[in-house]
Amino acid sequence: MKKDVILTGDRPTGNLHIGHYVGSISNRLKLQEKGDFEKFYIMIADTQALTDNSDNVDKVKNNIIQVALDYLSAGIDPKKVNIFIQSQVPELAEITMYFMNLVTVSRLTRNPTVKEETKQRGFSSSMPVGFMCYPISQAADILAFGTTCVPVGEDQLPMIEQTREIAKSFNSSYGETFILPKAFLPDSKVCQRLVGTDGDLKMSKSAGNCIYLKDEPDVIKSKIMSAYTDPNHIKISDPGKVEGNVVFSYLDAFCTDESFKEFLPEYKNLEELKSHYRKGGLGDVKIKLFLNNILQKLLEPMRKRRKEYEKDLDQIYKMLFENGVKAREVAAQTLEKMKSAMGIDYNKFLKK
Ligand code: TRP
Repeated sequence: MKKDVILTGDRPTGNLHIGHYVGSISNRLKLQEKGDFEKFYIMIADTQALTDNSDNVDKVKNNIIQVALDYLSAGIDPKKVNIFIQSQVPELAEITMYFMNLVTVSRLTRNPTVKEETKQRGFSSSMPVGFMCYPISQAADILAFGTTCVPVGEDQLPMIEQTREIAKSFNSSYGETFILPKAFLPDSKVCQRLVGTDGDLKMSKSAGNCIYLKDEPDVIKSKIMSAYTDPNHIKISDPGKVEGNVVFSYLDAFCTDESFKEFLPEYKNLEELKSHYRKGGLGDVKIKLFLNNILQKLLEPMRKRRKEYEKDLDQIYKMLFENGVKAREVAAQTLEKMKSAMGIDYNKFLKK
């Protein structure tokens, strides 16, 4: 069987947070460690970020290195994974142009992720065309590399669906050219879409409810201590609710039986802790301090690695540029293949 080609990416509009970590980065690390792939790409999607930041180019530009640092500090190994910048592969834009002819406007506006983002950004009649079309450009990102596996959070599923539709449509119009990629999601629902510290549905930088991978220990602790729990759990003896309680959602995502052995040995596992909380007699401070221990342990090595990488940013830029050149060669081959399938490979006339 042919090995997977893995590709995923993030928009450089801010630092990555623990929602990104459980939603996608931890799966990337698993795939990296398994090592069972043909190629592994992680793309810093600056072109996509510009579709709703045309007036804020500096933000996008400055966050490219931040996101690269986030990847490296989380443990992505630049020897195994090609991390590159989207705009350094202009073939992606050309591939997007041909894909645009295969998608209707009404199909684009039905994309649930685009719908939600349109609402968030308050675009009603002011939506940039580039923004509306970003799912098509995301299909180009994925298909340009012959990707078979896309490790993402649940919010990206509509994009993968759209990509598959475009691949099918191209194949049926012009002949078998693309493989249909599959999404690779985390096993558990809490990880697929981690809630914000305020209990809001999703952790996102615009909502200001994130714990960032680069946060310092005191910042992490204070965010956890003020996280949303159960507003009716006032006295320790009150019975508490676990559902909708941010601290328990995070424990679902991050704690293991080992965490209990290490930090809270009077309980065997999360089920036991939850049932005590439900009964009453367990205070918020205790569960928050437990969560704090777990997250500090996870994030400390990342901060250390980051400080090392930060010493030589030039080296990181150099790596990104060299990787972009390699990625470009692959995308250019795909573009040639597409043009020949479509019958617009006019340069063949020159060779005669
Ligand atoms: N849409 C993704 C995000 O918002 C970023 C992205 C761009 C991406 N191209 C991709 C993800 C290709 C997976 C595959 O984070």
